[in-house]
Amino acid sequence: MRELKEKILEEGVVLSDDILKVDSFLNQQIDVELISKMGKEFAEHFKDRKIDKVFTVESSGIAPALATASELGVKCVFGRKKQSLTTSEDVYHSSVFSFTKQVMNELIVNKEFINEGENVLMIDDFLANGQAAKGMIAIIRQAGANPVGCGIVIEKSFSNGRKLIEDMDVEVYSLARIAKLEDGNIEFAE
Ligand code: G4P
Ligand code: NA
Ligand code: NA
Repeated sequence: MRELKEKILEEGVVLSDDILKVDSFLNQQIDVELISKMGKEFAEHFKDRKIDKVFTVESSGIAPALATASELGVKCVFGRKKQSLTTSEDVYHSSVFSFTKQVMNELIVNKEFINEGENVLMIDDFLANGQAAKGMIAIIRQAGANPVGCGIVIEKSFSNGRKLIEDMDVEVYSLARIAKLEDGNIEFAE
């Protein structure tokens, strides 16, 4: 997505050889117009897959997931990392290890929000090692639903996430693929 790549080049900050900061439009301040274009792009790509629901993880996945769900005319569900006051006992959960943060996170969703037979499209802001997506796939499969694809805003192609998800027979579609972060420079794939 050309506009997204331009935005990354203009406003992205390379924090190290593997971390890109995009707080000005995605991770803290949200560029609503750009996010809604992302939603259109994901919806266009997955429009023939009979998507019943969009699924993401709090918090930074919610904005692009909402934009996509809005375009597709379906509901948007987000997994929580912690039990909330209102979490019922009837939940799906999956443990997700974050390589970036070196911690285990839980992914929790009330069972009533993902149902057997539904075609579920996953959306997330970043794909690094694919652990969040793997956790979402585990939950979708526990529910007897179908993970039909994984839409990613920024893929770090130098990490292993894409292969992990494709090996689980799930398509990965990314709006921007970063091949390399080096000396403050951003190099896109292909
Ligand atoms: P993985 O799911 O692909 O294995 O990724 P990982 O655990 O390594 O990522 C942990 C968190 O860090 C995720 O957000 C992810 O979106 C984010 N992240 C990973 N690489 C980058 C990066 O280069 N830049 C930025 N800005 N974020 C990155 P999170 O902590 O789960 O939370 P939230 O931001 O959604 O609240
Ligand atoms: Na994040
Ligand atoms: Na995320």
